[in-house]
Amino acid sequence: MSDNAFIPQWVIERKRDGLELSEDEIRAFIAGFTSGTIPDYQMSALAMAVFFRGMSRPETAALTDAMMRSGDLLSFEGWPRPTADKHSTGGIGDKLSLMLGPLAASAGLAVPMISGRGLGITGGTLDKLESIPGYNTRLSTEEFKQVVAEVGCSIIGQTARLAPADKRLYALRDVTGTVPSIPLITASIMSKKLAEGAETLVFDVKCGRAAFMPDIEQARELARALIETGQALGRKTGALITDMNQPLGRTVGNAVEVAEAIETLKGGGPADTRLLTVELTAMMCELAGIFADRAKARRELEQRLDDGRALEVFRRMVKAQGGEPRVADDPQLLPQPGVSVEVPAPQTGFVAFIDAREIGRLALRLGAGRKATADEIDHAAGVDRLVQAGERVARGQPLMRLLAADTVRAEALLAEAAAAVRIGEAPPPERRLVLEEVEG
Ligand code: URA
Repeated sequence: MSDNAFIPQWVIERKRDGLELSEDEIRAFIAGFTSGTIPDYQMSALAMAVFFRGMSRPETAALTDAMMRSGDLLSFEGWPRPTADKHSTGGIGDKLSLMLGPLAASAGLAVPMISGRGLGITGGTLDKLESIPGYNTRLSTEEFKQVVAEVGCSIIGQTARLAPADKRLYALRDVTGTVPSIPLITASIMSKKLAEGAETLVFDVKCGRAAFMPDIEQARELARALIETGQALGRKTGALITDMNQPLGRTVGNAVEVAEAIETLKGGGPADTRLLTVELTAMMCELAGIFADRAKARRELEQRLDDGRALEVFRRMVKAQGGEPRVADDPQLLPQPGVSVEVPAPQTGFVAFIDAREIGRLALRLGAGRKATADEIDHAAGVDRLVQAGERVARGQPLMRLLAADTVRAEALLAEAAAAVRIGEAPPPERRLVLEEVEG
């Protein structure tokens, strides 16, 4: 197609009428949007047409590729270690990246990880890392690659030059009712991840009350779209669909989640946090060819948590990015809250269910999240010592601690905190953390 023949409104009309767009049409549209020759209103109209009409896999791959190429592409070609990364669709208490990056690097992978900030009630890896005194999430591309080369893993924020078309399109989708579209979500997530240059990508697609995808059908559809689009663009991919009805671990916030991640990197930590970290890292290592099979990968990774090798990579990553490496030995060096207020159990019984959505809202209102994009967060705020389903509690015993800047803020949320935990007479059925594995 010559440039002269490209008429943006005809592309919008074709999608509106349910036709399949060609790779050239998609490429020209995104190129025009990135350079500014296609205005926001036409991009928004196309997004709405995609929302209603969907996109085939080839269209989704073409959109992803075009958005990926709208900015810098990192390349790790010729590197001695295979490169890999993980993407999570976002959860409550989801601190897995903090452990998965160092753990995977300790097993021989190179992990160039570009992460985001909290979105709505879900936390963001960058906010968590920034609670470590001095940690710099804004490295240049060269510095980023240098840390990956020296340490095996680096976690930074998205730069303005990485998939800029996604940054602009995401902002438009946010205000035009076009966020919940599987092809648009897929292209958005994948364009950023592919621009990072990792050869293997695993996805943690959360499913449940506090997740972007509340039901299993939608989670499956997103997982398949992510996997197949990655494969169409030459990557090795895999996905787990995991439960996000209840929080992960016993902490929700920023500094408290870093402290819990460090505990897990020392071979301790809550069982759910350890299990999911090992499962996702094992999938990554198997796909990348580091270990022959999943069972061996699990065993090797558990060893690296227990003997301190993964913690050592974390310590070196923090140091390489300007952070205080002693936090790995003494989490008291992380920001501490003004107050911590215990939430007493209203009755004796077994913890039946902890509502992740309510706990996420609670953490946000305690100061751990943002109400508006420009808000400052309180890195020390959040929830810790959270009970887990199946535990027995006596009336008056603490269900969790609320961490906040002052007593007024924490005490105002006591009733809501207690209501987020359901207590029953008998132990609940065991929680299934990994709901499904989706293969490519
Ligand atoms: N995360 C993204 O990066 N993009 C989306 O569209 C949704 C979640």
